[in-house]
Amino acid sequence: MDAIRTYLDAHKHSHLDALKEILRVPSVSTSPEHAGDVQALAEHLRNHLESIGLKKATVHSTPGHPIVTAEWLHAPDAPTVLIYGHYDVQPADPLELWETPPFEPTQKGDRLYARGASDDKGQSFIHVCALEAWLATEQRLPVNVKILLEGEEEIGSPNLVPFLEENKVWCACDTVLVSDTAMFGKNQPSITVGLRGLAYLEVHVEGPTRDLHSGVYGGAAPNPATILNDMLSQCIDLKTGKILIPGFYDEVIELTKAEQVAVHALPFSMDTYTKSIGIEEVVGEPEYTVHERVSSRPTFDVNGLWGGYQGEGAKTVLPAKAGAKVSMRLVPNQDPQSTADKFNSFIHSIAPPSVRVNVINHHGGSPVVMDLTSDPIQKAAQAFKEVYQTEVFFTREGGSIPIIADFKRVLGVDSVLMGFGLNEDGLHSPNESFSIEDFYRGREVSARFLAHMASDGTEN
Ligand code: BES
Ligand code: ZN
Repeated sequence: MDAIRTYLDAHKHSHLDALKEILRVPSVSTSPEHAGDVQALAEHLRNHLESIGLKKATVHSTPGHPIVTAEWLHAPDAPTVLIYGHYDVQPADPLELWETPPFEPTQKGDRLYARGASDDKGQSFIHVCALEAWLATEQRLPVNVKILLEGEEEIGSPNLVPFLEENKVWCACDTVLVSDTAMFGKNQPSITVGLRGLAYLEVHVEGPTRDLHSGVYGGAAPNPATILNDMLSQCIDLKTGKILIPGFYDEVIELTKAEQVAVHALPFSMDTYTKSIGIEEVVGEPEYTVHERVSSRPTFDVNGLWGGYQGEGAKTVLPAKAGAKVSMRLVPNQDPQSTADKFNSFIHSIAPPSVRVNVINHHGGSPVVMDLTSDPIQKAAQAFKEVYQTEVFFTREGGSIPIIADFKRVLGVDSVLMGFGLNEDGLHSPNESFSIEDFYRGREVSARFLAHMASDGTEN
């Protein structure tokens, strides 16, 4: 490890510069006008993977954004690790809230600011740097490695699932390694052993054929905005935090006593939490801790809401249409499709006959939980411990990475979620950032993890 560590130290700046180059490309997967940028970044990554000594670096076209793969398979008796990451990002909007331009990476103290700095360009590039260090110093990798980088994670990975199914042989591996999650806190490294799933829908309510004068028609004409609001408020009881969609909790598995004890033991300060997001108090199910509410319990959230006059000042209008984007985070064993069906039937059952309601189902994803005693997860924890010199937490997180459940379903393998982000990174928010120190340290954790994966564990 000494030579690798020396190499990583000597290449801090070149690795940070290479990351900045990646961050300059606005690879926003949801915006058709950025399709060329996503394609260009895929090609750039392919070239980079080839330049560090990986084999068969390839850009695969899909009906959507490309998938980039590469491999190094010259360790015949060693296991195979598939490293997954995503090079697409969320839109940078609202642009006016950024203190520095989102696609001009800017260093301030220990932090690098840019869209994708943490989610997921910075985190996934950590492994590329670790592979470079191995290949440059040892001319080999300790295990077989396959790299799989997608450009559609932020839109639900529509083309990666068919790619996995069609390329099962190439994708076969012993474990998947992913860095697209957060650590428990600064200098509190953690392995994520559970992620929530997702059901995402859109509701459209239509009433009168045109916007009406609310004085002339108000009182008799159905108001789609008011009606939508009423229907959404029937989905959740804000006092108890309970979701009221019939059958919503049917498949939910409660944490075991042992899991509850472990969650309750995690350090948590209500004061720091509320201050960090500028709220007076938390909401939700009082009988669950905040950490449980955001990681092991399902949610119902309105993500967007429109209808009627949105401009400055007042306009007395009775809108013809209203709409909402709604998401539900899911926990084992909830299923995205059946949850979406339950929501759809419930909304239609409570919709008054005065309006027309249409529900659109967007992407979804299944929840996952992993066995924290598994050999790869324990080896990842060991690697973290060696670099951060502190105990490693095992946590469930509330975000979703839908493809993790597909890795299990299609390839039969578990993933190691080795996050280097922090909640304060501002994922999907303005001024997203990533700790440069964690970027540097992460490279060594990754390099050590690969070494541990090659051994049977007895020499550690
Ligand atoms: N990196 C996140 C997921 C994440 C964030 C996991 C924080 C754990 C902690 C990922 O890129 C993401 O945002 N996923 C989407 C998935 C969706 C678009 C299908 C999400 O969770 O909203
Ligand atoms: Zn991500």
